[in-house]
Amino acid sequence: MELLGKVALVTGGASGIGVGICKKLAEKGAKVVVNYVGETYEEKAKSLVQELRGSGNDAIWTSGDVTKQTHVEHMINSTIDHYGKLDILVNNAGITIDGLTQNLGVEDFSKVLSVNLVGPFLTMKLALPHMIANKFGRIINISSVAALFGLRGAPAYAASKSGLIGLSKTTAREVARKGITVNVICPGYINAGMTERVEQEYLDSMTPLIPMGKFGEPEDIGGGVVYLASDEAKFVTGEVIRIDGGIAM
Ligand SMILES: NC(=O)c1ccc[n+]([C@@H]2O[C@H](COP(=O)([O-])OP(=O)(O)OC[C@H]3O[C@@H](n4cnc5c(N)ncnc54)[C@H](O)[C@@H]3O)[C@@H](O)[C@H]2O)c1
Repeated sequence: MELLGKVALVTGGASGIGVGICKKLAEKGAKVVVNYVGETYEEKAKSLVQELRGSGNDAIWTSGDVTKQTHVEHMINSTIDHYGKLDILVNNAGITIDGLTQNLGVEDFSKVLSVNLVGPFLTMKLALPHMIANKFGRIINISSVAALFGLRGAPAYAASKSGLIGLSKTTAREVARKGITVNVICPGYINAGMTERVEQEYLDSMTPLIPMGKFGEPEDIGGGVVYLASDEAKFVTGEVIRIDGGIAM
């Protein structure tokens, strides 16, 4: 139980990879705050919290859109009000709106940047004062292998995820002497969330490109988050870890 007593906030934690992250954190003893946005995800967040509580873990849900400063304030304040601190922040919320560069509308481009890049900026901006006061923090930002090698038809997504790496390394440098680490995980193709909304034909065409010959599971990303949040990773910051079955090596 290497995260016993730690408090973790996971954005977009109610679905896909977020569920794997929440479950792994809880398994290791962390108290988990599941963030969600919108009615569709409210039920998912509540049932995940009930499931975690049912296995003897401590968990709550908090609503909030990561692109809105007042919402982020609410989700961080409700974490602090309930648990007294925030140790681990996982920026998992993300979207994509696809289209070739010459076709994608500028509003759609901005919308993706807003969730995938402005969101993590806002959550870090508002979480850091608490972490600095507490002299402890673990921030883990979920990027993508698309940040490393580009992704045809997803210019906004790839740009936002590359930007997240630059943002993470910058923040990591800023807080490195304050007991806070900031690291990035780049998942490859995972059997959950976004890939469930992609045509099977496309997914089948991707499998042979993965050296391990298969997609990963949400818990594989959760395992990486646990490592980066744990004491084992106390000297690791500004790092970018691929969890991708080898596709971007
Ligand atoms: N599934 C994959 O293969 C894969 C691969 C690489 C990276 N990722 C990344 O993993 C993360 C999770 O994606 P997923 O595949 O589980 O998809 P998902 O759609 O299940 O999860 C995304 C979550 O973000 C939430 N969200 C969206 N906009 C939000 C906002 N404005 N405020 C708060 N929450 C918001 C959604 O409600 C959802 O719960 C994303 O950052 C994604 O880019 C996924």
